[in-house]
Amino acid sequence: MNILVTGGAGFIGANYVRLLLAGGEDRVVNFDLLTYAGNLENLAGCEDNPRYRFVRGDVRDRAAVRAVLADEKIEAVVHFAAESHVDRSVEGPEVFVLTNVLGTEILLEESRAAGVERFVMVSTDEVYGSLGREGLFVETTPLAPNSPYAASKAAADLMCRSFFKTFNFPVLTTRCSNNYGPYQFPEKLIPLMIANALEDKPLPVYGDGRNVRDWLYVQDHCTAIDLVLRRGRPGGIYNIGGCNEMQNITLVEMLVDRLGKSRDLITFVKDRPGHDQRYAIDASLISSELGWQPSVDFAAGLARTVDWYLANRDWWEKIRSGAYMEYYAKMYGDRGGATGP
Ligand code: NAD
Ligand code: TYD
Repeated sequence: MNILVTGGAGFIGANYVRLLLAGGEDRVVNFDLLTYAGNLENLAGCEDNPRYRFVRGDVRDRAAVRAVLADEKIEAVVHFAAESHVDRSVEGPEVFVLTNVLGTEILLEESRAAGVERFVMVSTDEVYGSLGREGLFVETTPLAPNSPYAASKAAADLMCRSFFKTFNFPVLTTRCSNNYGPYQFPEKLIPLMIANALEDKPLPVYGDGRNVRDWLYVQDHCTAIDLVLRRGRPGGIYNIGGCNEMQNITLVEMLVDRLGKSRDLITFVKDRPGHDQRYAIDASLISSELGWQPSVDFAAGLARTVDWYLANRDWWEKIRSGAYMEYYAKMYGDRGGATGP
């Protein structure tokens, strides 16, 4: 198959491109704008693979999308490209609408016109909003997004639904919980805490630290997406999760302990506005329908992740110099407690 992966230079996209190149016979075209979050170093070693091609482009650019679909004779699309960070969406929602909503709509239209046979929309569990103490998200849970990021993903997710219902365009949608693992940009909780701890910097925990996330190792997310691509039901929506709920504070303490640093680095800072209390996924549908199960348990996944950030210090140090400093000062400067990365 000729597969277009959008956002393949980001965290999950790069892990997915690597999975595709590691096996099978598919041709992989990575279409990525290289925003602040896109990094070709995430694909180091892939460049020379004859089954791989990188095309720099914007999903909002209709002509560029049309050209890549035609030139590369694309048969399937796996759509990761997005603005992905909740805190940034609080600061500036507009680009989230443009990239996540308009970009997805353009990609859908052009893919349909080009005769694409499978279109996987990488959505998120954040479209469901927040859970209380009890319960799990199932695929029929009503969408109730709370952040501009989540709202933009929900709009894109529903646009995909409309293309299936209206045009019978073969869209498949995945809604996954929080990922962690190699190549995650150090603005997200786990890599931010690892990098700050290694530099003996404060570890900014929002609010009381009792918000709960359901963590899944990124490669398990990628294997689930791949199963959905190949064997999922057109129009199907699949929740993906690790059955691995944890309070943020517990997770940060585990990281600090593993790194041999002092828990005194942990600093409680002003909460994120509209901070969702709890996410937890019921992944029984993808499990029963497609036989997917996560393969990496949390202790092993976290150990692998910490080892990766220790072994790839150059990767994140480069990111954390330059523009990242400005971002950090802006986002954390007035929360109280934390000083620069
Ligand atoms: P990321 O921010 O690390 O990567 C996003 C990638 O998209 C970058 O390479 C960026 O350059 C590219 N991109 C951004 N705007 C673009 C545009 N206009 N045109 C082309 N490329 C563009 O994100 P991630 O964490 O890898 O997430 C990937 C996808 O998975 C997103 O759609 C996100 O909503 C979804 N998701 C993420 C998680 C998670 O825990 N990270 C969980 C569930 C779903
Ligand atoms: P994040 O990695 O941004 O993912 P999401 O908001 O999409 O779940 O944040 C994960 C959790 O960690 C979330 O509850 C917010 C919290 N958090 C902090 O406490 N401190 C931080 O510096 C960051 C980035 C997140």
